[in-house]
Amino acid sequence: MDDSPLHHPAAAAGIRARNTALGFHGSCQDRTGALLRTLAALKPGGRLLELGTGTGAGTAWILDGMSSDAHLVTVERDPELAAVASDLLRSDHRVEFTVDDLHEWMPQQRGQTFDFVFVDCRLAKQHHETVLGLLRPGAVYVADDLHPGTGWGPQDVVARDEYLATLAADPRLRPTLLDWSSGLVVAAVDGHG
Ligand SMILES: C[S@@+](CC[C@H](N)C(=O)[O-])C[C@H]1O[C@@H](n2cnc3c(N)ncnc32)[C@H](O)[C@@H]1O
Repeated sequence: MDDSPLHHPAAAAGIRARNTALGFHGSCQDRTGALLRTLAALKPGGRLLELGTGTGAGTAWILDGMSSDAHLVTVERDPELAAVASDLLRSDHRVEFTVDDLHEWMPQQRGQTFDFVFVDCRLAKQHHETVLGLLRPGAVYVADDLHPGTGWGPQDVVARDEYLATLAADPRLRPTLLDWSSGLVVAAVDGHG
């Protein structure tokens, strides 16, 4: 079976070209993007969150799945990367680009809740409790890049394994690991208690 996506977001080609010009290699893979689109579509009218915008590849896939009345907040600390995403996607009224460091941004969000999160930077994986605090019961949690990447050392593998152990031990989550694309976890936030 060829599981590569048949359809790509309209902005994908432009983002790829800008990535090549910038030498940015951090965009999510297309298979991950297709899954993000599917999961985003589960939250009509929802509030969605992406932690680590990069140049907007994941943002474009998430927007492609969202209903017309859903809202996406995406956060990136690098203004040059965020500007690429914003250039190509800001005409979509459903997305709100935030240029900030998650160290600063996350503690300011107390009281805000989301129905979906794409956890796509290391810091957000390390601050599990803070991220979970932003999610409503029934929310979808997705993280990628769990397969060792370029430049990973033994300490990165240890950090990844600790992260996965934290997710597995969290009674509020129902996680599934996917040994697919860049290595993913998809979890549901417990909606029963
Ligand atoms: C893997 S890339 C994101 C790719 C993007 N989500 C996509 O799917 O194409 C991770 C991004 O997180 C950003 N990042 C890393 N640490 C951050 C922090 N503390 N606050 C905000 N952004 C951060 C990096 O600058 C980088 O652009």
